[in-house]
Amino acid sequence: MFKNIIIYFFSGTGNAKTAAHWIAEKAKSQGLPAEVIRIEKHTPVPHTRFEENTLVGFCFPTHGFNTPPIVIDFIRRFPKSKGTKIFLLNTRAGMKLSKLFTPGMSGTALWWPAMMLWSIGYACIGFQPLDLPSNWISVHPGLRKKVVDSIFNRCRKITDRFTEKLLDGKRVYQAFWGLPVDILISPISILYYLFGRFALSKTYFASYKCNNCDKCIKDCPVGAIKLVDKRPFWTYKCESCMHCMNYCPERAIETGHAFFIFLWWLAFSIIPVLIIDVLGNYGIIPEDTIKTGYKYIYYGVQFGVGMWIIFGGYGLMHFLMRFKWINYLITWTSLTRFRFWRRYKAPGRFLRMN
Ligand SMILES: Cc1cc2nc3c(=O)[nH]c(=O)nc-3n(C[C@H](O)[C@H](O)[C@H](O)COP(=O)(O)O)c2cc1C
Repeated sequence: MFKNIIIYFFSGTGNAKTAAHWIAEKAKSQGLPAEVIRIEKHTPVPHTRFEENTLVGFCFPTHGFNTPPIVIDFIRRFPKSKGTKIFLLNTRAGMKLSKLFTPGMSGTALWWPAMMLWSIGYACIGFQPLDLPSNWISVHPGLRKKVVDSIFNRCRKITDRFTEKLLDGKRVYQAFWGLPVDILISPISILYYLFGRFALSKTYFASYKCNNCDKCIKDCPVGAIKLVDKRPFWTYKCESCMHCMNYCPERAIETGHAFFIFLWWLAFSIIPVLIIDVLGNYGIIPEDTIKTGYKYIYYGVQFGVGMWIIFGGYGLMHFLMRFKWINYLITWTSLTRFRFWRRYKAPGRFLRMN
């Protein structure tokens, strides 16, 4: 049915990469040449049409019920096709409660790239969500090794079955089962794309443990970290893929929980209320804006001012962290600095490959 298979993947902590290699291994075991290509900042997009009978796949994590922007950007520049067959596999936040494997949620993660590819002539024959261990260690500690291993075993079987069916020429539309939920949560995925991902990129910092090895800067798959004042600084390009935090040899990259809760509280609560109050006192807007039908003025001020404070606050934090005691304070009030807050990287032999 197919002559060869090319799998593109983007991965922060190795889950999507592992899935891509599992598929390649299975294909090779059936005598099919398979190529696995990492999508990162400088990966060239193919310029010419794929040969007939080439199966093209995409594996990537789900971020904020959405596709990572680097993948969207890559697919956006793909050449047109006349029916080349493709598949999409999104890895999600799998967990395990006692013996029960719990799934993550895709939102628009599969549908958006599928529609983009379909609109330029590709035929999607496989949609597969894969619930590998959650890597979102800004919000929860990494899963225990035993749990990770058992989730991996389960997912390997699912991926093998998926690959076998595809190579047999069957269509696998596993993801359609989740479509109603995906539609329900799609507004959140849009908000994440427009706003959430930028806000999240401003929650990471290098603590006093940083020894300037620059590994995070060199290894960032999207080139989002730069050196400012001799310390790593996360720019808006950051996709929160969690690579830096999980691979830092010094465990020096943290999420500033307390600092950001404080900043968000100032940004979206206290300061907008004060501004509205002052504007009201000077008669620029109705005095009781918050209580009356002029609420939209309040919401507008809240959003506009809030965003400025969030994004400006990060710069200020970065500047202030040159003072050791401020660095200690922000580090000590971060949850990720605790020893029990495990880091996560996909286990296995694919870590060093491609
Ligand atoms: C910022 C961020 C957002 C995430 N959003 C979702 C989500 O919306 N749904 C989900 O199921 N998993 C979500 N996850 C979990 C990852 O998609 C999941 O752990 C994935 O397998 C990681 O793949 P990787 O190791 O290839 O990066 C999120 C993780 C991060 C870091």
